[in-house]
Amino acid sequence: MKYTLICKKCGAVIPSFKEWFEENQVCPKCGSNHAEVQYHADYRQLEDLLAKDADSFWHYFDYLPLEHKENIVTCKEGAIPIEEWDFLERYAKEKHNIDCRVMVYRNDLNGGTNTFKDVAAALAAAIFKENGIKEYCIASTGNTATAYSKYLSLVGIQFTVFVPDCVSQDTIEAIQSHGQKVVVCQGDYAFAKKQAADFHHNHHVLISAGNIDPIRVEAKKTMVFEFLRQLGKMPDVYIQAVSGGTGPIALDKGVREIRDFYPEITLPQMYLVQQDTCDPMVQAWETAQKKGFPEGYEKNYPVIPNPQTIVSILSTGNPGMFPIIAPIVKKSNGTFLRVEESKLIDWAKLVKKEKNVCLGPASIVCLGGFFKALEDNKIHNGQTILINTGEGADRARDFAAKVTENE
Ligand SMILES: Cc1ncc(COP(=O)(O)O)c(C=O)c1O
Ligand SMILES: [Zn+2]
Repeated sequence: MKYTLICKKCGAVIPSFKEWFEENQVCPKCGSNHAEVQYHADYRQLEDLLAKDADSFWHYFDYLPLEHKENIVTCKEGAIPIEEWDFLERYAKEKHNIDCRVMVYRNDLNGGTNTFKDVAAALAAAIFKENGIKEYCIASTGNTATAYSKYLSLVGIQFTVFVPDCVSQDTIEAIQSHGQKVVVCQGDYAFAKKQAADFHHNHHVLISAGNIDPIRVEAKKTMVFEFLRQLGKMPDVYIQAVSGGTGPIALDKGVREIRDFYPEITLPQMYLVQQDTCDPMVQAWETAQKKGFPEGYEKNYPVIPNPQTIVSILSTGNPGMFPIIAPIVKKSNGTFLRVEESKLIDWAKLVKKEKNVCLGPASIVCLGGFFKALEDNKIHNGQTILINTGEGADRARDFAAKVTENE
């Protein structure tokens, strides 16, 4: 075996995903659902990979928890371009007198379903194929659901998706187009999660383990390798729209994983962004900041029931991952930022005008975080900023129509 799973709580070793699935994805010793993958790999070989072209995240096969290459499933995801967007650099200079490099990680160009959820779905499909899993279920606000629908259908896995009622018809149709079952729950994302958990218990169907799911984390941590391959270094600042928080958890895991071999590589400052219509993590962070981050601050967060937002992808009203994410953001010297939902269309129009691409609303929340960070003096001369845009506008037709009207 090239890897094992280690329980984050008690350190127990779980030999592989086979046993992890047999144990219902909890530690057999302490019952914790938080485990991390550890490799018996020599990371000096990573150097060679970083010098080569890549056509998907499978480029990093040696550092992914799959044993046999014949189980690989791919639609060319995860080796998407990191582009320099000079209109944003000009904006920083002209409006704030800041000289910075602004790089955009074009996850909307992923080959599966045009979101940064494609890598996790590809890895999940491959691991399930290798371990004989036939059925799976998940609760999702849309992008994970769509990506998993596509990739799991490629390996013949029966998949049931529970979505909150705010999810767009475009997303529901996309899931169904892959022949998978979608249950629209009459409530918010927290309610959809509850329905999925009930389904999992009652029908003994394997369920996604949420944002700490080692499959999702392992897939997404490859962004660390991609930053090094494409930029030759880590960015100074990493900006991402946050909902559950897989992105920041995975970035942290990736950096820790290679720490012994690359001690000079450190976490970028993480700026995590939420729109003002569903911003429980920003609120929790502000409260903690005001109190000077007292002991246990991370356990104190508000829950927003039924958030009313046009960004259904970012509608996690119960920020259950805050206790895990906030310490990561803090150690990175980062912050949480709030942007106004009412500005999203104008920002998306600006991107359309400058780059002729229509990004999805969750990507624009992330971009708005860049403007907000500038406004708050959180970006400095000489820094390299990475904006992780997570989705195209394929499944946000209403949003795209507003962006392109009067063109
Ligand atoms: C486009 C996009 N941006 C941001 C997010 C938030 O991701 P995370 O799980 O890292 O909070 C998601 C997923 O929910 C997404 O699809
Ligand atoms: Zn344990």
